[in-house]
Amino acid sequence: ATLLVLHGPNLNLLGTREPGVYGATTLEQINQDLERRASEAGHRLLHLQSNAEHMLIERIHAARLENVDYIIFNPAAFTHTSVALRDALLAVSIPFTEVHLSNVHKREPFRHHSYFSDIAVGVICGLGASGYRLALEAALEQLERP
Ligand code: DQA
Repeated sequence: ATLLVLHGPNLNLLGTREPGVYGATTLEQINQDLERRASEAGHRLLHLQSNAEHMLIERIHAARLENVDYIIFNPAAFTHTSVALRDALLAVSIPFTEVHLSNVHKREPFRHHSYFSDIAVGVICGLGASGYRLALEAALEQLERP
């Protein structure tokens, strides 16, 4: 199967960005770990980080043409703002898991609402970089289910 991992704005700064909130793991370490795990299991994993909403939208559109089977998505700040990204995911109807490094529910009230949670297969938050790995394990289990 083909999986796509999408990272929203400012996640390119992981490792140095508010490490008390987001941890010390870099985005490259996260992507490499996911790529390794997916390829060990015989799957293909693609990834993109963008600070631009339209880039993420266009990547989601392209995912349908590439027959991407599953998306793991940390929309970052767009979680709380983007009807356009929500609509893109509805348009391609590719199942996805929403991931956040931090526990958004114990942070500012504006982070408590997500435009994605009610259309996601599942949501993981507050577990740091492990959240991506756990999302991948769950996705692989679903994709490998007969
Ligand atoms: C985040 C949480 C968002 O509220 C924030 O805007 C981010 C990262 C997380 O991974 O914890 O940029 O999605």
